[in-house]
Amino acid sequence: MERISVSLPRPLLEKFDRVLKEKGYLSRSEGIRDSIRSYMAEHSLLSRLEGEISGIVSLIYNHEEHSTSEELTDIQHEFSSIIQSSIHIHLDERHCLEAVVVRGEGSKVREFVNRAGRSRGVRGVKLAANVSEVPE
Ligand code: NI
Repeated sequence: MERISVSLPRPLLEKFDRVLKEKGYLSRSEGIRDSIRSYMAEHSLLSRLEGEISGIVSLIYNHEEHSTSEELTDIQHEFSSIIQSSIHIHLDERHCLEAVVVRGEGSKVREFVNRAGRSRGVRGVKLAANVSEVPE
């Protein structure tokens, strides 16, 4: 086992600890290992996207931080060939949820998800994807 040290904002750590308690974890390390495994599984799913897909990318961000809104708008313009529509919801005074409907080549969708997820104010990015063919 390797030992690492990580810096986290206190509120995030407190929330994480509450989740661990709810789930019955006995050690923080085990919870962090499982979180990393989930993160990797999600990445692996995303990295295997291919062919024509359709889906919804949801992004949660703090619009007061680092001009995130402007950055996300720029990125969406850049990926306009796969973006069909988007809905913006103001969650509270600071946080926004953007649901972006995408349709196009899997690799392009992956590129969009990764780019949008790297924007500094973005707290979470999720892709719910389907193949574009209508199911039998
Ligand atoms: Ni908003």
